[in-house]
Amino acid sequence: MTVAAAPARFTGRTALLTAAGSGIGAATARRLAAEGASVLVTDVDAKAAQRVTEEIRAGGGRAEDRPLDVTSPDQWATAVAEAESWTGRLDVLHLNAGRNLPGAAHELDDAAWHDQLRLCLDSVFYGVRAAVPLLRTARGAVVITSSVHAAIGFKGFPAYAAAKGGIDALVRQLAAEYGGRIRFNSVLPGAVVTALWAETPPEYKAQTIARTPVGRLGTPEDIAAAVAFLASEDASFVTGQNLLVDGGRSISSQE
Ligand SMILES: NC(=O)c1ccc[n+]([C@@H]2O[C@H](COP(=O)([O-])OP(=O)(O)OC[C@H]3O[C@@H](n4cnc5c(N)ncnc54)[C@H](O)[C@@H]3O)[C@@H](O)[C@H]2O)c1
Repeated sequence: MTVAAAPARFTGRTALLTAAGSGIGAATARRLAAEGASVLVTDVDAKAAQRVTEEIRAGGGRAEDRPLDVTSPDQWATAVAEAESWTGRLDVLHLNAGRNLPGAAHELDDAAWHDQLRLCLDSVFYGVRAAVPLLRTARGAVVITSSVHAAIGFKGFPAYAAAKGGIDALVRQLAAEYGGRIRFNSVLPGAVVTALWAETPPEYKAQTIARTPVGRLGTPEDIAAAVAFLASEDASFVTGQNLLVDGGRSISSQE
């Protein structure tokens, strides 16, 4: 028996990624490009998106970048139009923008609550609305970055948990709505070492590792691998799912 090398799963495909100038989004852009995708790297931080694009090109991949603030429906329309004019298609959409704005419910003002939902949840609606026509034509896939906060309770992040939980409900609705034409799934990262974790005290990191069965924090590449799977034909029978990629944090006891 001859064992053939696995083909690059995204050859001839175009992917648009948000918040891809750093962390999980950047790792996913690198991963999809390494597997043959043409990647449109977007971020509100234009310079960060440009750095990732240059890195991918230097490695022989195909990438373009553009600034995109995911909370702006107008900017979404332009970004999707640019993807279309670049390669004529859109196969993969990774909706990844998010940041946790802490505050217990009794301390949150209206503005903080709405800011959190606008960044993490409204932005997903804007992106899907703009991209559905192209994705439908390409029979594409959407992967949205949710969070372990959608699955288990943590003190101090009610708005973040509500926004991420909204994503997980929304993928089921969208998967049902668009059936065989577009697949929708979410990934729920646990603790992943990115800029979000830069300010985290060492004791909290140690405590998190102790509560994580695999015994380490996650890497952006751990999440990129899961996003690539869900976006690929390997997952052609998977839709409407919320995949926890958290080293088992959500199934371990709190002790
Ligand atoms: N790192 C973790 O432990 C962790 C855990 C669970 C979920 N997540 C989720 O993963 C996603 C990525 O997080 P990360 O840790 O890679 O973050 P990161 O801080 O490394 O990168 C975030 C990126 O988002 C960009 N951004 C911020 N506001 C934006 C906007 N309005 N429009 C477009 N881009 C914007 C920033 O410029 C930055 O490049 C987020 O949705 C986050 O909620 C992260």
